[in-house]
Formats: sequence, C-alpha cells, structure tokens
Amino acid sequence: MAMPVIDSLLANRTLRKAIWKLWYPLLTRRLQADGVVFLNYAYETEPPMEIALAPADEADRACIQLYHHVGTLAELRGKAVLEVSCGHGGGASYLTRTFAPASYIGLDLNAAGIAFCRQRHQIERLEFVQGDAEKLPFADGAFEVLVNVEASHCYPQLPRFLAEAARVLKPGGHFLYADFRFSQGIAAWEQALAGCPLQLLGTTDISAGVLRGMDCNSARSIALLERKLPKFLHGLGRDFAGVHGSRVYTALLEHGLSYRSYHFIKPCSEPLKQCVSLDQGKPISASSHRHSAP
Ligand SMILES: C[S@@+](CC[C@H](N)C(=O)[O-])C[C@H]1O[C@@H](n2cnc3c(N)ncnc32)[C@H](O)[C@@H]1O
Repeated sequence: MAMPVIDSLLANRTLRKAIWKLWYPLLTRRLQADGVVFLNYAYETEPPMEIALAPADEADRACIQLYHHVGTLAELRGKAVLEVSCGHGGGASYLTRTFAPASYIGLDLNAAGIAFCRQRHQIERLEFVQGDAEKLPFADGAFEVLVNVEASHCYPQLPRFLAEAARVLKPGGHFLYADFRFSQGIAAWEQALAGCPLQLLGTTDISAGVLRGMDCNSARSIALLERKLPKFLHGLGRDFAGVHGSRVYTALLEHGLSYRSYHFIKPCSEPLKQCVSLDQGKPISASSHRHSAP
C-alpha cells in the first residue's frame, strides 16, 4: 500500500488505533521466532556510548542505547517502575537487569506481544500486563517512574495518555519519555506536552543520535524484513525499521522529523523546592534544567 494512503488512514484517530492493533500482533507473529525484542529506531552517540553489555545483548546494542538514554534520566534503583508500550520487552528486560528497580511492569496494547514477553523475559521483579496507554489499569499514585519509548505517536489522543501518566505517578514521580513527530505534527505535540499536568525538567533533541542508531541497524533490519514480511508490506516495513533511504530515515536526515527525549516530574502539592525527591531523599531544585544536545 502506498505510504500516502497509510498516512491518511493514520490521520484518523479511530483508524489509527485499529491499524496499530493489526500491525503489532502481525509483527509479533512474524518476528518472535527470531527473538526480536526491540521495536525502536535505536540510538548512538558520537563518540559511541560504549556502555558495558552482556554478550547476549550485543546484537541489540543500538536499540538498548535508546533505553539507556531514557532510563538514566532519573534513578530507577529501588523504584516502582511502569513502562507503557513495552513492545517485545527488550527495554524492560535491560532496565530491570541493569538498574534494579523494586518492581517493573511492562504494559502494551498488543496481547500477542505481552504473551511473548512473559515467555521470553522471565526475570525477578519484572512482569507484563496487557492494557491501553489511554486507560491505564492501575491505581492513582502507584508508580515512582513511568517510562515511554517511541510509542506515543500511535495513541489516538496523546493528552489522555499524559493525564493517565500523571494520575498513576506519585507526587515527585518521574516521567521519562522519548518519541518523534514529522514537522506537520510538532505544533500539536508541543501543545499537548505544554498542557500536561507534569512539570518539564529537561528535553533533548536526539534526532542525530537516532539517525546514527538507524545506521547501525539498517543492514540487519533489511535482511529481517525481506525474510519475514510479504512483499506488499516491504515499504511499510522499511519505514517502520527506519532503514537507509526509507521515508523516515530521509525525513530525519533532512530535519523533516524530530526525535526528542523528555524528563518530566509530577509536582508535589507543596511548592516544588520543598518537595522531597524520590531519587535520593534530597530536595529537588526548583530551577528547571535543560539536557544538552547529544
Ligand atoms: C514502535 S513500538 C515501540 C516498542 C518498545 N517501546 C520498543 O522501543 O521496543 C510501539 C509500541 O506501542 C504499542 N502501542 C500502540 N498503541 C498503544 C496503546 N494505545 N496502548 C499501549 N501500547 C500501545 C504497540 O503495540 C507497540 O508495541
């Protein structure tokens, strides 16, 4: 199907959810036998991040680095963490094994993906739940950190997800977020983020790092999608994987697409300067910081 047709279908909120509800289970069915545990565009810095990884994680290095970038915006150790849209669970597994949260729940709309996660990632303190980002099945204030990587562009109503994120976080809790938008969607994205009931602590444009991540994975992704997807889905698959020459890759290269990470905090009822940090029991400075560009 031609990409302009897909674009016009995705522009409709109801159809958007229906399309992703078909697309991701299809991907799970096609890719699970190959042990594909990441569904993101990946990230690499210049010079390279060179984080220490277990040998079994090396093949996923660039995708893991996106999670490492987002997951280290706040302390996870000892925290109750929720990840919304965990996909095939590779990020949940890496963050749980590496940063020892007290508990980590990965949630995704894709029931087949959640079944795959449960079978593939059997790790202490890590569990998986099927659910909708716009209607989270958790009590108010249940989590200290909420992670969300490259998924909010799928949600029909971003403000609903942001309201849910704020609801399930404890006061002082952290929302660690990364995603992208094409140029025409940036104003609405920024408006939704500015209107959300969370306080922005910092944001970074990581477009250049994601482009390098795509470069790292391009050859592997092309081989996989040509082997696993029917020919009529190759165009969509190339975009989805962000391979060299795909529309998404070119848009990122030519600044027609922006990929950003964000760190928000849920304000306490008291003034923020008196709010005790959930990180290290130290007061959080009232002054916002901005993360520097990679
Ligand atoms: C591009 S994948 C990213 C997955 C994962 N974060 C990663 O980086 O590997 C987007 C994910 O969002 C999930 N998703 C889409 N709409 C959703 C919704 N309304 N609620 C929860 N998850 C959703 C999809 O099922 C898919 O797993």
